[in-house]
Amino acid sequence: MSATTGTARLRHFITAMTRLVGEAESDEARILAEGKPLLAELVATDDWLPEAFAQPHPVHYRQYLLHCDPLERFSVVSFVWGPGQRTPIHDHTVWGLIGVLRGAEEAEMFAPDRVPHAEGHERLDTGMVAAVSPRIGDIHRVRNAFEDHVSISIHVYGANIGAVSRHVFDTTTGAPKGFVSGYANDTLPNPWRD
Ligand SMILES: [Fe+2]
Repeated sequence: MSATTGTARLRHFITAMTRLVGEAESDEARILAEGKPLLAELVATDDWLPEAFAQPHPVHYRQYLLHCDPLERFSVVSFVWGPGQRTPIHDHTVWGLIGVLRGAEEAEMFAPDRVPHAEGHERLDTGMVAAVSPRIGDIHRVRNAFEDHVSISIHVYGANIGAVSRHVFDTTTGAPKGFVSGYANDTLPNPWRD
């Protein structure tokens, strides 16, 4: 087999994740343990994300769908942070893996009964991978670590994340409010091109 380049990296990642969720079924710990090195490999080289899915918005962070499993067992998104952009405090309700492709991000973690008081803090630099889930800690607030350039992370979630009913939390009271994130894009990248 020839060396993996360009969008073939995304294709190989999708193939490996499809195998993994098929074999692991509901074994979330296994999916996170074995998915982590797969995502680390994907974000280790920054030559495969098409420009259309790397575009920041002037005001808000953007979430582009790169792939959704036909059975909605997992989805892959590019999360594009403009300078200084941040999320509200939010949950996911499903497992997730976060790998930094470009730049860096900073996250504050919250316990379900302690929002809006942060329990911990984590910085993720390029190439690093972190996990979230209701089992291991699911509520956080994330921001671009840089005020002067774009950061991009690649996320994998255990559902069609753009359609999942989840929550944002008031930064003063911690009160939850329902939200569904959706996606910024109408078309998908073609990982079969290279
Ligand atoms: Fe998140």
